[in-house]
Amino acid sequence: MSGRYVVQTFGCQMNVHDSDRMEEVLRAHGWMPALEVEAADLVVFNTCSVRERAEQKLRSEVGKLAPLKKRRPELVLAVAGCLAQQEGERLLARLPYLDLVLGPDNIAELPALVRDHIAGAPPQARTVFDLDSPRFLAAAPRPGEAPVSAFVTTMKGCDERCSFCIVPTTRGPERYRPADEIVGEIARWVAAGSREVTLLGQTVDSFRDERLPPPEGDDPDESQFPHLLRLIAAGVPDLLRLRYTSPHPRHATRSLALAHAELPVLARHVHLPVQSGSDRVLRRMIRRYTREEYLERAGRLRASRPDTTLSTDIIVGVPGETEADFGETLSLVREARFTSLFGFKYSPRPGVPALRLGDDVPEDVKGDRLARLFALAEELGRAHLEGLVGTTQQVLIEGPSKGSPRTFSGRTGQNEIVHVELPEETFAVGELVDVEIVRAFKHSLSARPTAAGLARLPRTAQRSHAEKRRRLLPLVQGEAG
Ligand code: 5AD
Repeated sequence: MSGRYVVQTFGCQMNVHDSDRMEEVLRAHGWMPALEVEAADLVVFNTCSVRERAEQKLRSEVGKLAPLKKRRPELVLAVAGCLAQQEGERLLARLPYLDLVLGPDNIAELPALVRDHIAGAPPQARTVFDLDSPRFLAAAPRPGEAPVSAFVTTMKGCDERCSFCIVPTTRGPERYRPADEIVGEIARWVAAGSREVTLLGQTVDSFRDERLPPPEGDDPDESQFPHLLRLIAAGVPDLLRLRYTSPHPRHATRSLALAHAELPVLARHVHLPVQSGSDRVLRRMIRRYTREEYLERAGRLRASRPDTTLSTDIIVGVPGETEADFGETLSLVREARFTSLFGFKYSPRPGVPALRLGDDVPEDVKGDRLARLFALAEELGRAHLEGLVGTTQQVLIEGPSKGSPRTFSGRTGQNEIVHVELPEETFAVGELVDVEIVRAFKHSLSARPTAAGLARLPRTAQRSHAEKRRRLLPLVQGEAG
């Protein structure tokens, strides 16, 4: 039983990735994407509950489909992702139009659940963690459709107990994908035309695989993540750039910085969430590092190779955060020299340990702190981008920019977004282009290709590197069985 589906995604990169896997399992069972919900037989909402009012958002999305569902009761409405895991059957009781609730570890069961539902089974919730035999759905790059920049899951779940965070509840304990599977999947993406890969995991740098050598160094927080990075670099030599998100600062040890110094494939950028600059708040958050330890680790990463940039996540207004605590956060942002950051107002999540601490920072104070944090981030970001004007950078072109047909966008190894105009006869998507930065905007740069950069670009008449590689895909898939 199959038909047309729509998957609507909310939230983080991991959810985007899960939605891709959902689409793959559906397509493997004969389902096809619908161009609009009106034409769909199945709508899946892949939800996020890490912040804000996830359930209200879902309620409003489901509400929008109520008229359609009344007209066509056979339309199947499913909820997946973190809210599904967190609420399970309760969601079915609270949202009358819902048919299925599916946790992040139950994605492979989606086609069967939909089939059973269509055959008359009552609404069901499947939210079981695959603790005994963790399952990582292998990505199936499709010929000609591999993105320049692909995502590969290396671990899931979280063993940290940050007091503000719902992720341990919604994603379960840490489970790691075997290193050889990870290397194999990266090789498949690269064979299909991808040039950059971002490794994904809630604490991506806590990686373990008993088949790898033990962690290096005597720091108890050392993991085998640096080994994984080396294996990838050696195993997929055609990969242009390797990124990962998000590391926990606890495992951002000396050996990780060494891996950065040693492996040119690693991007010169690390997103290292700090959450707060105050030791008192870090303790309340149960982050398991001090401000000083964070700065030491971040500094080592920044120094691992010239011009390595750092970005971060920060929460303002956690219970008990004083103006002095927040001042520490502002001073840390300067001291760590972040070139960009994400800032959030603390939002109490169901069942998290911080609930015991109340939610005592008034909304307007949270708003004021967030605005001041963003103002500082903008000042630092602007200074950083302006400092790049006149320099030469290597940009991996990801696709055409919105607007002008000859302007393309990509990112430097340090993660700055760059727009560059390229002549008609060149084929640039998936290529590394040397450019000179000519102008800084608020969050991006504009550039022109250098003469040497231009000369190295393939002409449209020739097939680009990425296209040539894509033609190999059926062969590689055949080999992988
Ligand atoms: N309130 C506000 N922000 C949060 N984050 C996680 N939990 C909360 C919460 N309860 C933020 C953290 C994390 C990012 C993904 O979301 O900064 O790094």
